[in-house]
Amino acid sequence: MASMMLNLASASPSASLAMRETRKTSLPKTFIGGTEVTGKGKGNLFIKTQPFGRVSMAVAVNVSRFEGVTMAPPDPILGVSEAFKADTDAAKLNLGVGAYRTEELQPYVLNVVKKAENLMLERGETKEYLPIEGLAAFNKVTAELLFGAGNPIIQQGRVATVQGLSGTGSLRLAAALIERYFPGAKVLISSPTWGNHKNIFNDSRVPWSEYRYYDPKTVGLDFDGMLSDIKAAPDGSFVLLHGCAHNPTGIDPTPEQWEKIADVIQEKNHIPFFDVAYQGFASGSLDEDASSVRLFAARGMELLVAQSYSKNLGLYAERIGAINVVCSSSDVAARVKSQLKKIARPMYSNPPIHGARIVANVVGDPTLFNEWKQEMELMAGRIKNVRQKLFDSLSAKDKSGKDWSFILKQIGMFSFTGLNKAQSDNMTDKWHVYMTKDGRISLAGLSLAKCEYLADAIIDSFYNVN
Ligand SMILES: Cc1ncc(COP(=O)(O)O)c(C=O)c1O
Repeated sequence: MASMMLNLASASPSASLAMRETRKTSLPKTFIGGTEVTGKGKGNLFIKTQPFGRVSMAVAVNVSRFEGVTMAPPDPILGVSEAFKADTDAAKLNLGVGAYRTEELQPYVLNVVKKAENLMLERGETKEYLPIEGLAAFNKVTAELLFGAGNPIIQQGRVATVQGLSGTGSLRLAAALIERYFPGAKVLISSPTWGNHKNIFNDSRVPWSEYRYYDPKTVGLDFDGMLSDIKAAPDGSFVLLHGCAHNPTGIDPTPEQWEKIADVIQEKNHIPFFDVAYQGFASGSLDEDASSVRLFAARGMELLVAQSYSKNLGLYAERIGAINVVCSSSDVAARVKSQLKKIARPMYSNPPIHGARIVANVVGDPTLFNEWKQEMELMAGRIKNVRQKLFDSLSAKDKSGKDWSFILKQIGMFSFTGLNKAQSDNMTDKWHVYMTKDGRISLAGLSLAKCEYLADAIIDSFYNVN
């Protein structure tokens, strides 16, 4: 690279790049990650401080300034959809992304969402900027939906709620708060977990390690492994928990197991950090799906909860969610909220209004709220039906006597099939079934009509590929 560099301070005027030379005696300081950069750099653009403050710029001729940028791998989840689109086979099936489809495998916009949008038009609501913390009406109803409207923690003002860019953005705000106020503290994440969790903590420079969660022998929960890993972590760690419908396994702890998890977290002075991306979608009941979070809150613990409305209201692209931090007093909550706002301001200034209004209109209106609950029951019900049909098809077709009942025990949008990477590849390459390589399939993308085909694909991959 060095041989390709041209020092513009001595370059001929015919050089195609403009020469910029300054004779400032003092230069503006550059900070990366809070550290001042003194003029050394990789890549093909260098700013050097010369004696007497003279600056020259060396630029590679005919080479992009971005030459040093390497190709990033495709996202393991969103990349599946891209591959699906490119496949022309009529039998193809996209079970990669967790997005709800109708029995006809079409995307679905909830009726309550359409009604809430009509209300916005009728009321002539504006597109003015929101405050940094988001829409007040949204923040109120979202905390109430999560913790229950009568929960004393809300009445006592102990919950700091800030509207986030859906589940991901809300997790990212919390991760930034951890990085700032708990330097060196570790976040424990389940093995396996949703693929983006590790990205979020890596990009936030928050150290993480995994706790055991999935037992391949039973295709169930490794509860003892989970508890002992949480116990073994340094005191005061953050423990990331999926509030319901664990992604990717679909395996949730029982209420008794949640109590034991809370015991250990309390003993160790850890801080629970819930990711609630599927409230209402796991059981069909909003309250039941929030019971894990409420159990921890009822113990008087401080906790973080990221929420998403991508799945339960089908607002995937509206990017609407929230981060809630339950604090020991209203005074602490106010300070935490102020810091979350301080983190959000330079990242995206303030959040989008459209999804926030939809949620506020639906959850805040008793009629629409009831209609939503019915629609959600229908969606959750359709997923339960395909789950049952897939189990029936596998059990009928597989003559080996293998027990496929783990599929019925799992909950939510996903099923963890237990297929390994090679077997998952076979599902895609031979059967045109698109899924993540960890063996996860999204049942929300499956129809009753396709269950038999999927069962054939799973049995072939399971028995004929190592
Ligand atoms: C466990 C989990 N957390 C968070 C999210 C965040 O999704 P979004 O950013 O669309 O709300 C998802 C989405 O798949 C998820 O499965």
